[in-house]
Amino acid sequence: MIDANRLERRSAELARIAGRGTSVSRLGLTADEQHARDLVGGWLAARGASVRRDAAANLFARFEGQGEAILVGSHLDSVPEGGRFDGALGVLCAVEAVESLVDAKTRLRRPVEVVAWADEEGARFGVGLFGSTATFGRLARGVGERRDRDGISIADALRALGEKGDPAAARCDPKDLAAYLELHIEQGPRLETAGIPLGIVSDIVGNYHARVTIRGRADHAGATVMTARGDALAAAAEVVLAVEQIAGERPDSVGTVGEISVRPGAKNVVPGECVFSLDLRAARDHDGLVQEVLATLTSIASVRGVEAMVDDLARIPVTPLDPKIREVLVHATRGVGVDAPLLVSGAGHDAQNPALSGVPTGMIFVRSTGGSHTPREFASIDDAALGAQALANAIKELAT
Ligand code: GLV
Ligand code: MN
Ligand code: MN
Repeated sequence: MIDANRLERRSAELARIAGRGTSVSRLGLTADEQHARDLVGGWLAARGASVRRDAAANLFARFEGQGEAILVGSHLDSVPEGGRFDGALGVLCAVEAVESLVDAKTRLRRPVEVVAWADEEGARFGVGLFGSTATFGRLARGVGERRDRDGISIADALRALGEKGDPAAARCDPKDLAAYLELHIEQGPRLETAGIPLGIVSDIVGNYHARVTIRGRADHAGATVMTARGDALAAAAEVVLAVEQIAGERPDSVGTVGEISVRPGAKNVVPGECVFSLDLRAARDHDGLVQEVLATLTSIASVRGVEAMVDDLARIPVTPLDPKIREVLVHATRGVGVDAPLLVSGAGHDAQNPALSGVPTGMIFVRSTGGSHTPREFASIDDAALGAQALANAIKELAT
């Protein structure tokens, strides 16, 4: 039986780490995220799990058994000024699900391991799904040398957390895993609109992240006539609007420029350089979306006589989740009285890495309100407890 009070108490305790009111700014690969990992690791160590971190700062808490393991979890980092539930609820519910099985002295044949993936959001270094990508051997070369705004590299940040600074050394063999399960808030309105507390994820959209640098020519804002400018920000502005238009015209596609900086950054200087993020997602023809945006970027730069450089940070294809695990989740959610609809996830999830590495993977969505990546995001304790019970049902079915 899920202990909803314990779940609620722990949720509040976790939300106080780098939290203020309902706002949480617990960025990946920081001391705050480590503090959250230590808290979660402590809960499970007290129940007899062996707890370890891997070279990418992911936390694993394992209950031994025989054969391939069931891995279950989510992430503990947030975006800046994010909410209390994105990622955190998945870890809290994984802990609660496993503890409820321990409380009930359930005999599980397989090992069951709770995981808290590091730096899922990629808010600090721009590399989303960082921890799970490392563990499944999917990190691009040289990622450890990526730097935050203060010039600190991922390798430095890992060393500051007590790791060796080589995230590629974090490895697991997908063959050692029988299944990966992740519970997450829905982050959108479909379950709320349908009046249903839980959903099951069928597919996760493809996702492309890049950092674009436009180099124009810094010059005097008064003395430079309009026809003689190489304004990097004006070019970037045109790209931002093109992203909005292209994604808006393609089916099941979204595109966002969420971060932008201008150099030298003064009111009386024509912008000489502009660096901005690109986030492009689609449930179908993701490659087509990326190609169209990149081609448009090239053409805008050429017409305006500025230089555009694209630094690819991540390209994750559309990810279908496992049909057999989906069936297990259908039983598990029916077991708590919910006829859970199948949903496509528009958000990216760590679950993409095990799924793309051949691990049978499934996800449960919990109804959430108030959007997500903001302090308004919310899931009720009743819905969370129902999700945790469904997760426990699924773990039990898969592990016995
Ligand atoms: C993670 O939250 C993402 O989808 O960007
Ligand atoms: Mn998120
Ligand atoms: Mn998340």
